[in-house]
Amino acid sequence: MRRVLLKGRGDLDEWRDAARALACAGISPEDIEWCEEGGEKQLFWEHDVLPPQPASTSRPMTVPPAFVELAAAVVCHTDPARFSLLYRLLWRLQADKHLLDVASDGDVSVARLMEKSVRRDAHKMTAFLRFKEVGSGISINGRRKFLAWFEPDHHIVVRKAPFFQRRFNDMDWVILTPKGSASWDGVKLTVSHEPCTKPDLSDPADELWRTYFANIFNPARLKVKAMQAEMPKKYWKNMPEAELIPDLIANAEQRVLAMARREATVPPAFHGRLKAAAQNLPSAPSAVAGTWEALREQAAACSRCPLHAKATQTVFGEGPQDAEIMFVGEQPGDQEDLAGRPFVGPAGRVFDEALSAAGMDRARLYVTNAVKHFKYEPRGKRRIHQRPSRGEVEHCRWWLDRELEQVKPKLVVAMGATALFALTGLQQKLEEIRGEFIELEGGRRLFVTVHPSYLLRLPDGDMRRKEVERFRRDIARIGAELASSG
Ligand code: URA
Repeated sequence: MRRVLLKGRGDLDEWRDAARALACAGISPEDIEWCEEGGEKQLFWEHDVLPPQPASTSRPMTVPPAFVELAAAVVCHTDPARFSLLYRLLWRLQADKHLLDVASDGDVSVARLMEKSVRRDAHKMTAFLRFKEVGSGISINGRRKFLAWFEPDHHIVVRKAPFFQRRFNDMDWVILTPKGSASWDGVKLTVSHEPCTKPDLSDPADELWRTYFANIFNPARLKVKAMQAEMPKKYWKNMPEAELIPDLIANAEQRVLAMARREATVPPAFHGRLKAAAQNLPSAPSAVAGTWEALREQAAACSRCPLHAKATQTVFGEGPQDAEIMFVGEQPGDQEDLAGRPFVGPAGRVFDEALSAAGMDRARLYVTNAVKHFKYEPRGKRRIHQRPSRGEVEHCRWWLDRELEQVKPKLVVAMGATALFALTGLQQKLEEIRGEFIELEGGRRLFVTVHPSYLLRLPDGDMRRKEVERFRRDIARIGAELASSG
């Protein structure tokens, strides 16, 4: 009896090298015992463990491509019997090239079941893995860093890593699991079959996931069994939104009854506009990759955070790409959301008046927001502005970083605390740094002032007049400063 000890962590090459060496040496499946490191059998083995041997060329072997594909999935399974099963198939394929077409064959059907289980596990990983942002502030290379912990049933991390590379190409990430790890830094995808331990994770985006989940949960369509089959409980512990599920289920019936009792309402007016906008969405990006147009198209389809779901459209920045000054606000308001342009509503009018009082031409400025989607709460027919959370600002900062990279303004003006946080990571009282020209890394300067909406909210007429004057003086200083710096 030959004994073969493998690490057995989903590495096809490891099994293939050993299997090829054994098959070329003519050793039949009944004469081999397979075991993986740490497996039960290994405890009773003292001698005669065959390390993977280089393949001999004495007896060339061929297998159909379908077998390689099947074996690549089956070696990822955790069943200790997978190696002997695959070797039996390999052995039998030498006599019967069409063996895999016989679905009723015992070995083939077990292998297919294993393959299905591995594929399902991989699918669950793509659905339930949650990245958490690590570190804060503006990163040096403009890329944000994320970490995820996931507990798969099988050795699927290495197999699934290229999917995450494609899907999350624009951020640096590390995925750790008890069955291997993968990481991407924008240049290199690194994978390992070595087990990892769970890191300490908490993230402001957790709250986002919970809000999103609570919003999309429809108690009238609840099917507990189907839900648990689709999102098995074992994944819940690593999903921030899962803690809401028991309460949502428990209160579902009451909520459905309350919904039934409520009078029918006319859909809010903006539903029609949302629908029309959705129908007009571009079907595929058409601009050349890497260009400004491509960036705007990507932003138009952005779904990085749940805010996109309720907004009419992305409101990207606008202005010349070589503007010397970039003004950054908080997020589009109701009118900006409908028009698809920043600062065209009431706050925009306050802003425009201050610009013209200072003799500044808006057409020469780049104007944008920290967050590109309108966050609001529907109240009757109105949409009430809601301040974006820290997590939402951090998610959207990716776009702001791209705008800064492209426009390269000499001066950035943060209008309000959200813009200040998006641009610097600082959560400071505005008054402490308002009205100063602050040197940032890379020769850029920052000026901080209030947000025009703040002026609109001031209840006292006298105070409002004074504050509007102060805001206009800030804007005038910006104009004068730029004129003097040439
Ligand atoms: N408030 C903002 O911060 N941005 C806009 O575009 C409009 C209102």
